[in-house]
Amino acid sequence: MGVTEELDRLYGEALGAIEAAGDLAGLDAVRVSVLGKKGSLTQVLKGLGALSAEERPIAGKVANEVRATIEQALESRKSLLEQDALAAQFTAQAVDVTLPGRGRPVGSRHLISAITAEVIEIFLGLGYQVAEGPQVELDYYNFTALNHTPQHPARAATDTFYVRDMTGKGFDGSVPSDALLRTHTSPVQVRAMEKQDPPIYILAPGRVYRRDIADPSHLPQFTQIEGLVVDEGITFADLKGTLDHVVKAIFGSERKTRFRPHFFPFTEPSAEVDVSCGICDGKGCRFCKQTGWLEILGCGMVDPNVFGYVDIDPERYTGFAFGLGIERIAALKYNIPDLRMLVEGDMRFLRQF
Ligand code: PHE
Repeated sequence: MGVTEELDRLYGEALGAIEAAGDLAGLDAVRVSVLGKKGSLTQVLKGLGALSAEERPIAGKVANEVRATIEQALESRKSLLEQDALAAQFTAQAVDVTLPGRGRPVGSRHLISAITAEVIEIFLGLGYQVAEGPQVELDYYNFTALNHTPQHPARAATDTFYVRDMTGKGFDGSVPSDALLRTHTSPVQVRAMEKQDPPIYILAPGRVYRRDIADPSHLPQFTQIEGLVVDEGITFADLKGTLDHVVKAIFGSERKTRFRPHFFPFTEPSAEVDVSCGICDGKGCRFCKQTGWLEILGCGMVDPNVFGYVDIDPERYTGFAFGLGIERIAALKYNIPDLRMLVEGDMRFLRQF
């Protein structure tokens, strides 16, 4: 076969293959097989040097035309395939703008967090600062420095969760043997007084734990807010005025407060505070068990023995402390019949607040 025939065959073959290429990768394979270093046309062009002087210019001219035409065919097939690819991509990624939107569930603050924030806000307005302490606490802070006797019933393993080393290896060797889950936020009082000299005006919100079985009025884990004031000339009247203000800010100015004598190891005198029942307006109903009052917090004047543990001079300073249960306040404010509803995570319930 002469070179021109060879070129002719090659030309027809190449155009056929270009036409048949279904995608860009296939087309590029055709280009390489024809025009590449070892391509069929390249081979022919390499052979031109061996031709006679008369044949060479003619064959060379034909070869160049063949190459130009093939290159053109490749180019136009390429742009066609590119358009196809783009169109396919558009179809695949098409957005149906008529589809209805997908609603996202709207979150909200949990009632306990919301009330905690609300109470903190009230006290920040009175000049208090927020303090924190660990939930895994030492017996010393939870009981001893709060003037609990060694045989105080709250220390019993039936009331308090003790953190015990079950590995026998002392965890990493650093777990103190008197670690427990704090049963109230009062240990933060001790930590604050250790760290800071009076005047002290702090508020300590946080989780506390008790070995109670969950029922409508008990949770093994709940939330308290502790308050502590230590300054010169602080009296029980300051405590009463402060708590009356706070209760009215939380429940409404028409509510009344009542202080009942009580006992706590770390305050003397101590009291429990009741708020007038919002359902019967203090007349007596089922909610308040016909008393007209609902208990909301414990409080008292800091016992001088506690000052002894933290080196504060009880002759110079006096102070008051209080602890309120947030779940209880939530229940009273919104008439929630069962505290467990606050921790079950049922969005139909929680979303209401
Ligand atoms: N820590 C007490 C409790 O949990 C409440 C309290 C706090 C009482 C501060 C007096 C002073 O019951």
